[in-house]
Amino acid sequence: MTYIFTYNLMNDKRRKKFSVRGMNVMIYFDYAATTPMSNEALKAYIEVAQKYYGNTNSLHDLGAQSEQLLEQCKGTLANLIGGEREGIYFTNGGSESNMLGIKLLLNQDNRKHIIISTAEHNSNHQITRFLELEGYKVSHIPFTRNGQIDIDFLKYEITNDTALVIVQHINGEIGTIQPINEVAEICKRHDIFLHVDCVQSFGKIDLKNISPVVDSLSVSSHKIYGPKGIGFLYTNHQPTTSLEQLILHGNTYDLPGIVSFTVAANEAIELMESEKKQLIELREAFIEQLEPIKEFITIYENKNQKQLPSIIGMAIEGIEGQWVMLECNRQGYAISTGSACDVKYNQTPNTLRALQEDEIKAKGFFRISFGRQTNMNQVKELGRFLVAMTLQYKGTVELNP
Ligand SMILES: Cc1ncc(COP(=O)(O)O)c(C=O)c1O
Repeated sequence: MTYIFTYNLMNDKRRKKFSVRGMNVMIYFDYAATTPMSNEALKAYIEVAQKYYGNTNSLHDLGAQSEQLLEQCKGTLANLIGGEREGIYFTNGGSESNMLGIKLLLNQDNRKHIIISTAEHNSNHQITRFLELEGYKVSHIPFTRNGQIDIDFLKYEITNDTALVIVQHINGEIGTIQPINEVAEICKRHDIFLHVDCVQSFGKIDLKNISPVVDSLSVSSHKIYGPKGIGFLYTNHQPTTSLEQLILHGNTYDLPGIVSFTVAANEAIELMESEKKQLIELREAFIEQLEPIKEFITIYENKNQKQLPSIIGMAIEGIEGQWVMLECNRQGYAISTGSACDVKYNQTPNTLRALQEDEIKAKGFFRISFGRQTNMNQVKELGRFLVAMTLQYKGTVELNP
């Protein structure tokens, strides 16, 4: 019903574009924003929605069956991250997990200072902005040129009043992997809580050595071929306030979503090593393809292997990222100018601010991200297109200054 309504709202031109080009004809290079559901996850969703519809809080047998399934999912997900089943709290995704994790930790402490990396996802910045209004002081930590949190800066900002450090595991815009174990050691030494946003890392790198050293971590399902609107917070701290208890324990669980997410998570972790190998090959081939324009290109990445291969954050000198994205879109390639929420509000990507890149260079940023359905032909085709587009653009600029 909703779909028909939306479709009728389209004008003729837009409808024509839909039918001629069709959304599905596009080649998708925006897997860091979201992913299509896997067949297995979708099958699980349908099966559970039809067969296990009992409310997990109901006392009859249908409710008990659903509750059993819910507990199994908690156990499986906890195993996948090397944690305890009791520490898993389902949420509606990464942003809500971040909000709850941060609130939950701060509610256990009287100190009023928070340290956050500038490159965090906006969901984290929104919460800390709100907390500032409540009287918290917030320090922002930049990146080094290697795309990692500046550890010396972090140490310098710690005071006796620091309650919490917030840092992501993998950066969603340039794919750099953060030194979480080092940050955790620093936090432990100063008796500070650590919340880690693992939305871009879960299912892509092992979290088993991360979960024991953090106070909370957040995960989202739709980044790993599961349904949208599901995620979890993992923490070894008990919710303390009635609000947290209400949110974390009072909902009717979306069991089809939770089971489907668990299936997707299992699959992602099973495929992790083979996919990683393939994604490294795709990244190398893509960068090689850009050889003819290499003098114009900046790739923001970690040079010491602390890099997720599937995310390529880059800029072409003198060309706005927004323009590149629109040209790619016209050609049928779906790429991004940064994290989906920054793009929507046309903000400078947080990562570029963390890298202290000037406004003009920051405007050149765009992101290409690969996933399970990306193949070598597509990657080479996109590379060839970017080369042709750049050479044409540079030629045009010289002819018509
Ligand atoms: C690092 C990071 N954290 C949090 C989120 C938000 O997750 P969700 O879309 O599930 O709310 C995202 C999504 O882009 C992300 O990349």
